[in-house]
Amino acid sequence: MANRKYIVGNWKMNGLRAQLSDIAAIAAIAANNEGADVGICPPATLIAAAAEANPGFAIGAQDCHFAESGAHTGCLSAAMLKEAGATYSILGHSERRADQQEGDAEVKAKAEAVHATDMGAIICVGETEEERDAGQAIEIVTIQLARSFPSGASADWLTIAYEPVWAIGTGRVPAASDVEEMHAAIRVKLGELMGQGSDDVRILYGGSMNGGNAAELLAIPNVDGGLVGGASLTAAKFGPIIEAAASS
Ligand code: 13P
Repeated sequence: MANRKYIVGNWKMNGLRAQLSDIAAIAAIAANNEGADVGICPPATLIAAAAEANPGFAIGAQDCHFAESGAHTGCLSAAMLKEAGATYSILGHSERRADQQEGDAEVKAKAEAVHATDMGAIICVGETEEERDAGQAIEIVTIQLARSFPSGASADWLTIAYEPVWAIGTGRVPAASDVEEMHAAIRVKLGELMGQGSDDVRILYGGSMNGGNAAELLAIPNVDGGLVGGASLTAAKFGPIIEAAASS
């Protein structure tokens, strides 16, 4: 895989204007580590200010509605996010699948809406601990991927993030062999779903990635980057992950 590593920080519901200085510091580290692609997805309230203050640094959204406009109180369209300065959006994060009951069909529609607006999409998939314990992780994740998979997919705009739900925010990380097995299964499924070009779609790992484990995780075959929550909130924590990606 000749893919450059792709490291994205998902700030979730964290960050006020005071934290824009952290984004600037992270953007500066990214500029010094040209071997990796780096981005931050702040809360929607900070997208415009972050994009304006850091030209050339990839600011993304954490979600996007599938409709172009209309009666959807509290929601944001792809055009709105793009106008604010987001160039891509995370979609179908497990926290949204759980908290907002987002299903695969909705995630697929969101990805198609984002693509129609010329933005990139990072589609998240992952199993719960119960599903893994029952030996169903690969089946669950590959079915989720197939059902969430947008039409017209290409590596130019689509990224997949494998995030085991039980590893998010817990400090627990799957065994390297389990990550390798899952990413290989996702690669095979991408081949079935889109044929040519599937090898170029980047598959990120997410779930308790930090400066101490990033190099090892990023060395696993088919791990093309990371989707990072807690350890992306400051330059001090995120910097070592960016550096590990740029040199891997
Ligand atoms: P943590 O890195 O905090 O475990 O979160 C991972 C995640 O959910 C990124 O989307």
